[in-house]
Amino acid sequence: MTDDTEGAEPLDHAEPTVLITGATSGVGRATALALAHRGARLVLACRSEQRTRPVLDELRGLSPHGDATFLPLDLGDFDSVRACADAFLASGRPLHVLVNNAGVAGVRGLTASGFELAFGVNHMGHFLLSRLLLPRLRESSPARVVTVSSESHYQADGIPWELVRRPTRSFTGMREYAVSKLANVLFTQELARPTRASAVTAAALHPGIVASDIWRRVPRPVRPLITWFMLSPEDGARTPVWCATASEPTTMSGGFFDRCAPRRPSAAATAELGAELWGRSEAWTNAWM
Ligand SMILES: NC(=O)c1ccc[n+]([C@@H]2O[C@H](COP(=O)([O-])OP(=O)(O)OC[C@H]3O[C@@H](n4cnc5c(N)ncnc54)[C@H](OP(=O)(O)O)[C@@H]3O)[C@@H](O)[C@H]2O)c1
Repeated sequence: MTDDTEGAEPLDHAEPTVLITGATSGVGRATALALAHRGARLVLACRSEQRTRPVLDELRGLSPHGDATFLPLDLGDFDSVRACADAFLASGRPLHVLVNNAGVAGVRGLTASGFELAFGVNHMGHFLLSRLLLPRLRESSPARVVTVSSESHYQADGIPWELVRRPTRSFTGMREYAVSKLANVLFTQELARPTRASAVTAAALHPGIVASDIWRRVPRPVRPLITWFMLSPEDGARTPVWCATASEPTTMSGGFFDRCAPRRPSAAATAELGAELWGRSEAWTNAWM
């Protein structure tokens, strides 16, 4: 793979360590490879070692350090999130960038920890992981938390608290996906408050509409027709890589970014809703802290 991510800069540290979730395919895989090109040491936190293996092999081929590593992580299961964070913390490694990338869309159900599937994986799992890793990010500062949200978040007008602890209600799961992506934006805004994460900056982003495995549920005959018009995963990695490396996102901590530029988030992303989401998410995860 060639690295043609425009506007991105070398990472802040001489030997930057990046932990990225969901790097088996799509935006996560392309982001991991582009960051490795910039000298990052990658930790891939993914559900399946078997599906991660080809990406690890690619990374080890690229990186002069050759130390890309795998950590098991199922974001729908708080025990797994805790075990992943514990394993990373026990390694003693610094953490300069956490990329909360993994996500599900158009799926229905409940996570092992009892949350609506999209909300549980996309928001709750990343909330707990970030909270557990925050002390190491602070110690390693300057450090960043980059969360892959979506422009779908504009479709949510709030968080239906009575529904986020129940199985997915809508037929397509897309209404719940929009709520989970609004939660990503709110989480980022809250994380940027000085009381939450001093010396750690936060960015949320839309990667574009990307021809990734997220469309795997679209029937095979139709899939090539719709993905034909989409960005490649490498193009989809541009904004996450820029958020992880460029200086602008750090001066606009808490922002939402699209096409390597700031974009006004949904009017539903209010400070009041963010504080409520943070408080509830904290209460739901306190037993794992
Ligand atoms: N594609 C788009 O057009 C688009 C647009 C806007 C935003 N996004 C966002 O971009 C991010 C990356 O998605 P993508 O498009 O690259 O999709 P993708 O190719 O399907 O990748 C999703 C990744 O998330 C992982 N994952 C799913 N559930 C998980 C769980 N419970 N625990 C840990 N990892 C899990 C998957 O791992 P497995 O291999 O185990 O399934 C995979 O590595 C998502 O946050 C998505 O919402 C995508």
